[in-house]
Amino acid sequence: MTALVGEEAQLIVGEAARRRTFAIISHPDAGKTTLTEKFLLYAGAVAEAGAVKARGARRRATSDWMALEQERGISITSTALQFSYRDHVLNLLDTPGHRDFSEDTYRVLAAADAAVMVLDVAKGVEHQTLKLFEVCRARSLPVLTLLNKCDRPGRDPLELLDEIEEQIGLRPTPVTWPVGIPGDFRGVLDRQTGEFVRYGRTAHGARTAREERADPEVARLSEGPAFERALEEAALLEAVGANLDVGSFLAGESSPLFVGSALTNFGVRHLLDAVVNLVPPPSPRADSTGARRRLEEPFSGFVFKIQSNMDPAHRDHVAFVRVCSGRFERGMTVVHEPSSRPFATKYAASLFGAERETIDVAYPGDVIGLVNAGDLRIGDTLYAGERVAFPSIPSFSPELFARVRPRDTGRHKQFRRGVEQLEKEGVVQVLRDPAGDPDPVLAAVGRMQFEVFAHRLAEEFGAPVDLSPTAHTVARRTDEPTAAALRRTSASIRVLARRDGALLALFESRHWLARLEAEHPEWRLEPVLESGGRRAAP
Ligand code: G4P
Repeated sequence: MTALVGEEAQLIVGEAARRRTFAIISHPDAGKTTLTEKFLLYAGAVAEAGAVKARGARRRATSDWMALEQERGISITSTALQFSYRDHVLNLLDTPGHRDFSEDTYRVLAAADAAVMVLDVAKGVEHQTLKLFEVCRARSLPVLTLLNKCDRPGRDPLELLDEIEEQIGLRPTPVTWPVGIPGDFRGVLDRQTGEFVRYGRTAHGARTAREERADPEVARLSEGPAFERALEEAALLEAVGANLDVGSFLAGESSPLFVGSALTNFGVRHLLDAVVNLVPPPSPRADSTGARRRLEEPFSGFVFKIQSNMDPAHRDHVAFVRVCSGRFERGMTVVHEPSSRPFATKYAASLFGAERETIDVAYPGDVIGLVNAGDLRIGDTLYAGERVAFPSIPSFSPELFARVRPRDTGRHKQFRRGVEQLEKEGVVQVLRDPAGDPDPVLAAVGRMQFEVFAHRLAEEFGAPVDLSPTAHTVARRTDEPTAAALRRTSASIRVLARRDGALLALFESRHWLARLEAEHPEWRLEPVLESGGRRAAP
């Protein structure tokens, strides 16, 4: 089947052009939830700030698995929010804020066209989340930056620019620049118009703030030396060429930077406008052969996240699908690419936090939640019309490993079912010994993935487990001949198989691995996908 023609094609292309699909990434506590809430407030999707949190609290109260999330005070699960703003449709994908879940973030970013990186002005680039930001950089995703919490004492903004560039490799290009020293924040200089935007707060930031703009002459009089200093710093930025540059932003090399305070609403509208003005709309996505599926071709999309038991009353699986082309209509039958089987989409939902609303149509850039999608896996393509397969989402190179076995051998069936399900969701990678040991080995990027795994197996599948960490710290992809040589080399090296058939060799030390690599250049030992984002050779 060829691309849809005429009005239908025009409609799809037009709807895609209105979409902006993005994610917010931040260190826990930098202000992601607050910013999300304020975006919704400014878009008119909620009447008063507080709604998202209230929904969150309700959700936590009703879900036992979320207990872990609550105990830890972190967000483990992702949500997709859709709202409209200035005649555009914004799809906001949430990401976990903890580095242990950076692989999850990576998968969400595979479905996003851009990211907003929120930094706490007092803290800058926090070591713990460097990994998350590197993930963004590795995908060459366009990134907008918000320096948040400017209402409070913070660090020197010029110093923060250097830090962003050095640590993440993104060149920040300030669009707004603070007026007043940290702790005595007066507002921002809008570098595009030269105007001063005065900082004003609303009661608890519950309602949208009025923006008061003044021309530079007025600002000079009212703000005195604070404004002069901002002008000097802006001249410095100009001199080093730190100016908004859309081309390098789209290439993921520079990052337009905004200064604000999500709590008091300051700068929120400016940033939201930048999302609409700068974030690219969905474009034709390359399939695994490199050919691009045009937006107006029949429906296609890929699964980037699977979540089960979101609602313990239902015990269901929801597969989140990013639409890449065409028009999705609930009830249509599509093809599940890996199995070539038809897949009925009777139960399609859009998700607002944890609350579901049935979705009837969706366009490129939108995210649909397919309920009861037990057979789908992360990375799977669904399509109508001509067959297409989008590239799979690569896994991270795990750094932590643990053998797992059911505590109660009578619960073996539940254990197997649980392991299979959590593997499908990508909670951990599961490795198996093709030759001997029947106990699987879990592989993870962060320790908390193990905790989530054990907690969920016990709570949702009734199969408490014992985990015994192994001494391995690094994995390499290998092949049968090398595997045989490795087994002869040392008993401490384990070669295990992943579900997709890939063989992973596990080593206890990087130094030793480096020595083996030097001594045996003929061995196949390839990085899986380093957390820094380097891809293995195909
Ligand atoms: P997160 O999702 O990134 O983890 O952060 P979240 O928005 O929950 O914000 C973490 C804390 O930082 C919250 O305070 C929030 O109110 C505060 N915060 C967010 N943005 C700003 C800002 O621009 N200025 C200031 N001063 N604070 C900000 P909390 O005390 O932990 O929670 P709450 O009692 O306010 O809800």
